[in-house]
Amino acid sequence: MSSISNSELEGAQLSVSVGAAVEQAPRKVFIKSFGCQMNVYDAARMADVLAPEGFDETTRVEDADLVILNTCHIRERAAEKVFSELGKLRELKDVRADAGLPTKIAVAGCVAQAEGAEILRRQKSVDLVVGPQNYHRLPDLLRRADEGRGGIVDTDFPVEDKFDHIAAARPEKTRSRGISAFLTIQEGCDKFCTFCVVPYTRGAEVSRPAAKIIREAEELARAGVRELTLLGQNVNAWAGEGETGGMWTLARLARRLAEIPGIARIRYTTSHPNDMGDDLIAAHGDDPALMPFLHLPVQSGSDRILREMNRKHDARAYVDLVARVRAVRPDIALSSDFIVGFPGETEQDFEDTLALIREVGFASVFSFKYSPRPGTPGADMADHVSEPVKAERLARLQALVEEQRQAFNRAMIGRTIDVLFEKKGRHPGQIAGKSPYLQPVQVDAPEALIGQVRRVEIVAISTNSLFGRLADGQTEARA
Ligand code: SAH
Ligand code: SF4
Ligand code: F3S
Repeated sequence: MSSISNSELEGAQLSVSVGAAVEQAPRKVFIKSFGCQMNVYDAARMADVLAPEGFDETTRVEDADLVILNTCHIRERAAEKVFSELGKLRELKDVRADAGLPTKIAVAGCVAQAEGAEILRRQKSVDLVVGPQNYHRLPDLLRRADEGRGGIVDTDFPVEDKFDHIAAARPEKTRSRGISAFLTIQEGCDKFCTFCVVPYTRGAEVSRPAAKIIREAEELARAGVRELTLLGQNVNAWAGEGETGGMWTLARLARRLAEIPGIARIRYTTSHPNDMGDDLIAAHGDDPALMPFLHLPVQSGSDRILREMNRKHDARAYVDLVARVRAVRPDIALSSDFIVGFPGETEQDFEDTLALIREVGFASVFSFKYSPRPGTPGADMADHVSEPVKAERLARLQALVEEQRQAFNRAMIGRTIDVLFEKKGRHPGQIAGKSPYLQPVQVDAPEALIGQVRRVEIVAISTNSLFGRLADGQTEARA
């Protein structure tokens, strides 16, 4: 670390000890998350860990005594964004230092795990680098940073479970957790798809025991949460110790969580096609709390590319699986991820992907140009696809899935569906919620309905939202 940051670290120590002598002045933490929903969940957990240390969250980075960038390493551009943000933060740190305000900068998340000490070398203003498995150690790491020992890196994969150390949820904060909340039930991945960094950044698959998940869900429900989205890199591979011993599957867990008073809806993401168990498929047919929306990434429709990606199934298996899910829940909305331009992808391989998309029909899709990630097998494969070809294929794929998305939304007009209201709407007098199929819905209705599920007749659509009116007199499916 440079001498500049060392003197700032001394300053930080000073302000803390002065604060402690009076009455510990509240410090402010600003956390910015990139990447997947698990980072959003982790950001809330980091805030939980830091609260007893006297940190309040702020949405204004200028006010922050501690800035945490919670990063994503999934594609090159995601990682580069972090370094450009760090450049801006360095300037902010200097400005605040001139005003006598010390600022700590921490890098968390998957770039922290992947790049470790390299981040300190590239950006001298960083005080702390902490990987996703070590957030429970944040108070201790910050104290070490306060002691001015220079840049600190913690990217171990500890044997202890970070969740054991992180207070599930603080009652005073859970009040603001909203109506729909994330809950991580599984972390890490053992699949090693050849394009993907996640098994390296998040480590091996670990499932949390049911009892801990249930306790956390109950706390969220007490705080007003009505919808849980269960998170995991391979969430449907969750296999956890049951409440009363024995192993439970995700289907069993979802049924148990749905019994918690207040919980109306359960969602889960992200699933791998090979881990879609028969009981989970069956649950989509008979568990009304399980929402009819399934994010099931397939990545490609070409058997050859799927093999090269190490996805361990072919296109037919995916299409058959979708048919089995639709047999028990015909209205289920399907969503997927696709990568275009994986090494060796020919025009024919890409056509196979478009054919699969036409055959399945998706309500929504995330699609990406292949980005070689250092250390993954894909990066060393032959026949990388040129940038213009990737761009052209991405545009064609996106045009097709956009047509499908619009058609799916159009088909909602005239239907009456359950909407869980989550917040105020875009315009005064409106409130906004989600359909069972995860579409945003705007309705003219009183704010008192926020937190409730109501029957809504869909009357119009825009590019991204549905518009509806309360269907009076019709009772809701799950209040
Ligand atoms: N566990 C999830 C994936 C998390 S990453 C799953 O298995 O689906 C989210 C998506 O990012 C992946 O589904 C994939 O489509 C995309 N992705 C991952 N690595 C990528 C890479 N190197 N280049 C482009 N897209 C990538
Ligand atoms: Fe990455 Fe594949 Fe694991 Fe998903 S299943 S996180 S794409 S390695
Ligand atoms: Fe990104 Fe890590 Fe999530 S690489 S997608 S933040 S698991």
